[in-house]
Amino acid sequence: MPLIKWKNKYTVNNQQLDSDHKKIFDLFNKMYDECLATGTVACTCIMLDELISFTEYHCKTEEDYMAKIGYNNLEEHIIKHNDIMQRLRKIKQDQEDNLQTVTMALMVLIGNWIRLHIIEEDMKYNLEIQSESAKSIDIVPQEPLTTRK
Ligand SMILES: [Fe+2]
Repeated sequence: MPLIKWKNKYTVNNQQLDSDHKKIFDLFNKMYDECLATGTVACTCIMLDELISFTEYHCKTEEDYMAKIGYNNLEEHIIKHNDIMQRLRKIKQDQEDNLQTVTMALMVLIGNWIRLHIIEEDMKYNLEIQSESAKSIDIVPQEPLTTRK
């Protein structure tokens, strides 16, 4: 049973971005089921690379979308995305220290990302969409990037 479930009220009214957010929920649940709940920590390293790559791709896609709809707080939102990326990279640097600690740090980071960012921050650009035409703006997913500053 998933630890955290996607709900319709979390939608940002964009199919691609909702799909990305659902994947982040899935990664969180997978990490809990396969790593923390079972006491197995070796999977963390594999998941961390996948998570970093996916997060780079998702943030870029979301930023492109926010630019297209003319979101007022784009710069502030990009800073928050960069903070998430920095935290992920720090966890990757630390992963050789103690896998149990790294797993816990990742659970906290993804949990906060879902709770404070997706459910609160991402809702703000959704609320700013005034017209139906803005809701139908297409975004073309980018290939995951290898580097991001
Ligand atoms: Fe975001």
